[in-house]
Amino acid sequence: MAPRTSIERARYLVLGSGLAGLYFALEVAERGPVTILTKAKLQDSNTRLAQGGISAVFDPTDSAAAHVEDTLRVGAGLCHREMVERAVAEGPALVARLAERYGVRFDRTDEDAFAPYALGREGGHSHRRVVHHRDMTGAEIVRGLVAAVLAHPNIRVVEHAMVIDLLSWSKVSGSEGCFGAYALDTRSGAVTAYVAPVTLLATGGAGKVYRYTSNPDVATADGIAMAYRIGAKVANLEFMQFHPTCLYHPEARSFLLSEALRGEGGVLRRADGSELMEGRHPMGSLAPRDVVAREIDAEIKRSGHPCVYLDLTHLDPEFLVRRFPGIHARCMELGIDMRRHRLPVVPAAHYMCGGVVVDPEGRTSVPGLLAAGEVAMSGMHGACRLASNSLLEAVVLADHAAKIADEAGRAPPERVAPWTEGDAVDSDEAVMVSANWAEVRAAMWNFVGIVRSDRRLARARRRIELFRDEIREYYWSYRVTRDLLELRNISLVAHLIVTCAEARKESRGLHHTLDHPDLDPSLAHDTVLDLSNGPPP
Ligand code: SIN
Repeated sequence: MAPRTSIERARYLVLGSGLAGLYFALEVAERGPVTILTKAKLQDSNTRLAQGGISAVFDPTDSAAAHVEDTLRVGAGLCHREMVERAVAEGPALVARLAERYGVRFDRTDEDAFAPYALGREGGHSHRRVVHHRDMTGAEIVRGLVAAVLAHPNIRVVEHAMVIDLLSWSKVSGSEGCFGAYALDTRSGAVTAYVAPVTLLATGGAGKVYRYTSNPDVATADGIAMAYRIGAKVANLEFMQFHPTCLYHPEARSFLLSEALRGEGGVLRRADGSELMEGRHPMGSLAPRDVVAREIDAEIKRSGHPCVYLDLTHLDPEFLVRRFPGIHARCMELGIDMRRHRLPVVPAAHYMCGGVVVDPEGRTSVPGLLAAGEVAMSGMHGACRLASNSLLEAVVLADHAAKIADEAGRAPPERVAPWTEGDAVDSDEAVMVSANWAEVRAAMWNFVGIVRSDRRLARARRRIELFRDEIREYYWSYRVTRDLLELRNISLVAHLIVTCAEARKESRGLHHTLDHPDLDPSLAHDTVLDLSNGPPP
């Protein structure tokens, strides 16, 4: 007999604990009790791993118009101009707010706390505009916000709480609204219904849908899957961004080598030492990520060599260690001294540009459900995200969502249906979960990666449909675990990615397909799916 589902109530329910979730929680907490659910520890998020920084216009030779222009150019015709202009305009004040209100220590040009911010440069940017904390910007932002969250009397944090599904008034369309979520305590196995008039989805990215990723283990596309299941619109999932430079090393396959290394003069080279990007793009090694990742992929396939190399050996060694202490320390642990050796690199899945559709205030298509951060698709990134625009978008959306949160939901019901697990028993076949995890991710890497084709996508679709049938059957027969819930989510989102990719019969931004190699101006619109035109939930 399953234990009774307990019910916990709050005014604001926040799912996820990266920049968007923490910032929103802090901003609304003055107005009412907040519960943050996070499926691992409070500090575990994609934000924590962000090395580069947050882009904002501070350099007097830079301008908002230039930042907007860079974002739109890289976004390849799919950015929503209104969102981009808003984010660029509001970025500098929000960076200052992170520093002043939440104590985030961004690097300055000298020791003086009032000196101008030190600005880094990354791919696709025409100016230096990346505000950072050495090469550990995300960790510093998380440090500041977590300290403020833990000190706030109105915020309750529940760790190890894996959301199973969102609670919605109507299972059919989601149009009636969301009022919270069922969550599994991954240590005790108990299920709780967390009920609130307003739920913020801030569950982060989807890197784990792919075999190789720079993302942490928590990035399993949970928010996109849950929102889709209750009828929310999702869009542009064909645009998974592959970061060109993850370290190629058997013990550190997901370790990111920040684009800021190329911003400071790092050069990509082939195994024979020649410059990879020479003659390929006017910005050379600092070309936008989609361009660089495709060149690396093509070089690896052409040469049969497993990686290319990032060369920093011509740069000032003392500067390198001072500016990139985290990367230097990790490389040294692995026996690589970046001051003297070229770093072996390969691309890996890094950032989902699509997601749950939101308006510029963070409203999804489901009343009571807001979204911010990587899980959301606001139109900021279009078909390819400009480096370091993600933390910017996260804080801008979270800020707006906090401002309009009280208009978003209606009073939740008094009674909530208990979580039912039917005749489910404990699994004696956990191998089915681990095998399917590996197979879904391999199919996505092999057939829905940096370069696609109609045939590769069809192969992926066939496999994923089969895996999903098995996973569905298993889901209803055995008691849920975090692994099983994540598998259910990554397999659904894999299916959604393939569906979006098949719909886009052109090459644009991050979606490059051999069968439709050119951009088709008539397809300059988002790929929007919901339960009415997408795969089964
Ligand atoms: C990096 O440091 O290269 C990552 C920055 C980003 O993804 O925006």
